[in-house]
This record gives sequence, C-alpha cells and structure tokens, in this order.
Amino acid sequence: MRKDWDARARENARHYVATCQKKWSDTEFYASGEQAVAEQILTDMGNVCQGRDPKSMRVLEIGCGAGRLTRALANLFGEVHAVDVSGEMIELARQALSGRPNAHVYRNNGCDLAVIPPLEFDFAFSFIVFQHIPSREIAENYVREVHRLLRPGALFKFQVQGFPGSDSGPLNTWTGASFSVEQAAGMAERTGFDLRFHVGAGEQYFWLWFFKK
Ligand SMILES: C[S@@+](CC[C@H](N)C(=O)[O-])C[C@H]1O[C@@H](n2cnc3c(N)ncnc32)[C@H](O)[C@@H]1O
Repeated sequence: MRKDWDARARENARHYVATCQKKWSDTEFYASGEQAVAEQILTDMGNVCQGRDPKSMRVLEIGCGAGRLTRALANLFGEVHAVDVSGEMIELARQALSGRPNAHVYRNNGCDLAVIPPLEFDFAFSFIVFQHIPSREIAENYVREVHRLLRPGALFKFQVQGFPGSDSGPLNTWTGASFSVEQAAGMAERTGFDLRFHVGAGEQYFWLWFFKK
C-alpha cells in the first residue's frame, strides 16, 4: 500500500486524492476539502458533536492524503490527529497544515493506529480511503483501532466500497474490497459499534455511521 501510494503521490498527488481533475490550484484543492466537510459534517452536527462545542473536540482522520480535509477539520474542531500510509502524502499534508498547530499528522503502517498518542477522541472520520483498502480484514482492524481510541457513544463516520464484485485481490490498492450491508453490520457487531445509519449500499461511496457502544 505504501509503495503504490507513494508512487501516486510523486506522480500527481492531488489528482489521485481527487480524480475529478488532473490539475488543482491550491485554492480549488482546499475549497474541495471545505466542501466535503460542509456536506458530510456540517449537515450532521447532531451525530458528530452530540451537543459538544466543536472547538472542544478532538478528531481522528484515517487516510488524510495531502491534507485537503485535515485542513478543513482543523478549522472547525479543537484538535485533529490524522494518519496516512504514504510518507509522500504526509509530507504534503504537513505543508498544507503549516500554521495550524492544532493539526497533527503521522505516517502509519496502513493497518493500525499505534502511531497515535494514547488520547481519547470525540469523533473519527474517513473519506475516500477504505475504498482503496485491499482486504476486509485490514478495514476491520482499523475499525477495532478506532473503537480503542473513541470515547463511548462517539461516532466513526466513514465510507467503504459498496460496489459488489469490485474485490480484485490483495495486491490491488486502487479498487478495494467491497462490503454488503450484512458485512458492514457484522463488522460493527464484532468491533463493538452500533451501525445506526447507512447510505449508498451497493455504490462506490457506501457511508456508514458507527457509534461506539
Ligand atoms: C483518495 S485519497 C483521499 C485522501 C483524503 N481523504 C482526501 O479526501 O483528501 C486516499 C488516501 O488514503 C491513503 N491510504 C490508502 N490506503 C491506506 C491505508 N491502508 N491506511 C492509511 N492510509 C491509506 C492513501 O495514501 C491516500 O492518501
């Protein structure tokens, strides 16, 4: 995973992060991160914040890429900690986040969250990342790790690949392993989450709302 994503980052990081454009200006790229946060978080503040002031919240992001959403998350929340398997992406994220001391990024091993300091998190988020993870076991390990770091009751909102039959083997880091509703529900049950809502079953962007029991 690291070799492939480092190569993509060197070739054209912003394009591989958001494939709808080949070339992104800084303004366009960061505006697209703000837009995703507006659409997926600002419209869902009841579930995300549960009455808390966002500035008092500590947030975890998996697969931060070049820091597009991390920057928007750092503008909204008190503290953000983000991981990515690619050191090249993490370097770009560091540049994107300079001047934002409340944002912390880490290169991880692509499987767990051991690099994150032992802190308690109020919300976890992941956008267009699990679609690229080649095995359901790795995805489930991440979910178990998020459970370890979240406070009880808190939300992990993320997307998985929902398009059936997209599984194309353990070496494919572009088209990841897919989940049915039943597989997503099983993963929630085994990892200590309540799957309260889902949207987009059967599609590439299959959103899951996992609340820590
Ligand atoms: C399509 S990009 C999206 C980046 C970011 N979420 C955004 O929307 O701007 C996918 C990112 O996930 C990272 N990634 C892929 N597999 C990963 C894994 N197993 N663990 C952590 N990061 C991973 C890649 O390095 C890449 O930066």
